[in-house]
Amino acid sequence: MPALVLENVEVIYDKVFLAIKGVSLDIGEGEMVALLGSNGAGKSTTLKSISGLLGPERGLVTRGDVTWDGRSIIAMGAPERVASGLVHVLEGRRIFGHLTPDENLIAAWRGGNSGRFNELREQVYAYFPRLKERIKSKAGYLSGGEQQMLAIGRALMTEPELIMLDEPSLGLSPLLVQEIFGIISEINAREKLSVLLVEQNAAATLDIVDRAYLIEQGQVVMSGAADVLKANPDVQDFYLGGAGKVDYRNVKHYRRRKRWLA
Ligand SMILES: Nc1ncnc2c1ncn2[C@@H]1O[C@H](COP(=O)(O)OP(=O)(O)OP(=O)(O)O)[C@@H](O)[C@H]1O
Ligand SMILES: [Mg+2]
Repeated sequence: MPALVLENVEVIYDKVFLAIKGVSLDIGEGEMVALLGSNGAGKSTTLKSISGLLGPERGLVTRGDVTWDGRSIIAMGAPERVASGLVHVLEGRRIFGHLTPDENLIAAWRGGNSGRFNELREQVYAYFPRLKERIKSKAGYLSGGEQQMLAIGRALMTEPELIMLDEPSLGLSPLLVQEIFGIISEINAREKLSVLLVEQNAAATLDIVDRAYLIEQGQVVMSGAADVLKANPDVQDFYLGGAGKVDYRNVKHYRRRKRWLA
């Protein structure tokens, strides 16, 4: 049984703006799935519908359902969803810049037992040894990649069953993207942690996930196994054209054809 199921989810912001128009997707236990799409496609909105973070942005799920381990979580608050094992690493590396990496991990800890805290902290440093090297620096002075690692580390402190990552590769060099994606794959394999990876970097992403969904203008337009999508000519044209970035030279061409929307 898939662990997380979105069924026809519609989200409206400010009572008028329809941001996602009936998105359906599922993620099985321990599976690694990507949600790919260009700017404004509705990727972050989809994640917020799962983590319960639409409220502060005046967004609302107006149709459809989100079920987690067989029960609807639509009515649950965001903290309750985290407690149930769903964690969302927001776009743009939200960390406490004035605190050290260690203090950031402490701030993310919700449990009482300090023994368990120490175990989790050591696990985070084992996955991200770079963070341990920077243990005395303020997190605001860490590099972009290190800040992304810390944001993921903070999420791991909640002992999630499903981690949602919103564009972790944004602004990072290809080498660093490889490093972070490698660590995410390792965590997925070792901890049997389900992963929902939101990305624009389709090339690197399709190399590490099992399956992917493509979202355009608030709708899923294609989905399937990563290798099948990678071989698809439309995906190649539009998503894999320029080193994994959207190839703007092909946009017109794509608009004319848009085979997958037909
Ligand atoms: N708080 C908000 N209020 C109103 N409209 C919003 C809000 N957040 C997002 N939108 C709109 O909803 C649509 C989907 O936005 P979303 O942030 O989900 O896209 P995205 O795929 O994550 O894009 P990006 O790759 O640029 O992060 C966009 O048209 C966006 O302008
Ligand atoms: Mg986004």
